[in-house]
Amino acid sequence: MKSVALFSVKGGVGKSTLAVNLAHAAATQGGRRTLLWDLDTQGAATWLLQREQATGLRARDAFADDRLDGLILDTAFPNLHILPADRSLRRLEGDLAQDDKAKVVRRKLKAFTEGYDRILIDCPPGLSELADRVFRAADLIIVPAIPSPLSGRAIEQLRDELLRNHKGRPPLLPVWNMADLRRRVHREAVATSDWPVVPYSAAIEQMSVHRAPVAAFQPSGAPARAFAALWALAEQRLRESP
Ligand SMILES: Nc1ncnc2c1ncn2[C@@H]1O[C@H](COP(=O)(O)OP(=O)(O)OP(=O)(O)O)[C@@H](O)[C@H]1O
Ligand SMILES: [Mg+2]
Repeated sequence: MKSVALFSVKGGVGKSTLAVNLAHAAATQGGRRTLLWDLDTQGAATWLLQREQATGLRARDAFADDRLDGLILDTAFPNLHILPADRSLRRLEGDLAQDDKAKVVRRKLKAFTEGYDRILIDCPPGLSELADRVFRAADLIIVPAIPSPLSGRAIEQLRDELLRNHKGRPPLLPVWNMADLRRRVHREAVATSDWPVVPYSAAIEQMSVHRAPVAAFQPSGAPARAFAALWALAEQRLRESP
């Protein structure tokens, strides 16, 4: 099992959008048994896949031992399951601050190993106790950024944070998202690196109307191809990383 987190210090950069589309790509094009673990109280990924936690169950219970029954749901797509988010995650930061919780996400991922080949984790924005636990657990961090010099700097700061506090692990895969190459700032930022690019796209915006991954309603469009290529690159990075 390999795990990939979608993370950024910044909000609104496309973490949940990428999480849903890349999980769909892993499950459908790669045929991998895939779990999307929504760890953001906002539940955007959960909502985009038209799921919600069943009454009486709470997303936060996934962190208690042996309480996974019923928490993981199937989706409309073969091989793709989701561990939905809900408001109970608001209290997670306090829980995680306890000393014995340093490896809690890592332990939980191990518990999922038998059922899944790939786990994608949609994180809330910002450095937090949860982000720290995710950095200790994930095999790869995908970091979407809107093209600008400031975004490039934020990614370098994240690299520094990982070097200082996490021995430079896990590896980062930054992605320029919402790139509009008609705009000079975007063109110039994109040209400064070899990071993959996901274009600004009306079809991607339409995901919240269809409540589905873009490949489900526009399978042969440029956005679906961009996500397929991005997932292939993520798989390559997973193979390369020890
Ligand atoms: N490539 C894109 N083209 C057009 N719109 C996009 C693209 N990527 C994301 N969006 C839109 O940008 C908005 C923010 O995306 P998303 O919710 O995925 O960001 P996020 O980083 O998860 O936000 P948050 O930090 O609040 O969790 C959404 O309305 C989404 O539809
Ligand atoms: Mg989000």
